[in-house]
Amino acid sequence: MSVMEIKKMGEPVLKEICAPVDRIDKKLRHLLDDMAETMYAKEGVGIAAPQVGVPIRVAVIDVDKKKRYELINPVIVEREGSVIDQEGCLSFPGMFGDVERAEKVKVEYTNRYGKKRVVDAEGLLARCLQHEIDHLDGKLFIEIANNLSEGRRERS
Ligand code: CO
Repeated sequence: MSVMEIKKMGEPVLKEICAPVDRIDKKLRHLLDDMAETMYAKEGVGIAAPQVGVPIRVAVIDVDKKKRYELINPVIVEREGSVIDQEGCLSFPGMFGDVERAEKVKVEYTNRYGKKRVVDAEGLLARCLQHEIDHLDGKLFIEIANNLSEGRRERS
């Protein structure tokens, strides 16, 4: 496994509509491993394939160091509620902003073994799923964030 270079603000790959994965092979599993290692190395809670320069519909998430989600072709099939919270992104180091997201989401995806899976999420996991799936459509949090600032603000 190896830590990959993270694509930063301004790199065109971050704006691409990513292609669906049609073949889960050794190369894809290797990418999932490298994305996970990169996410942990940079202390992120999620990473999308375009952020490492690969425009395909793949993301890796781990918000609690208990369960890692490896999402291939993830799709949000249900959303409920709305909540605003502070958000950042590995491609925009040091920048944070308030983003409105659904409070709960249901996401269907395929795992690295080719099995269909469903996750019902709320809280940080729900936020992270929406953020990473946005990446797969070239959507960046800074485009929808309010009160963008350098550095994480203290909560009042
Ligand atoms: Co991001």
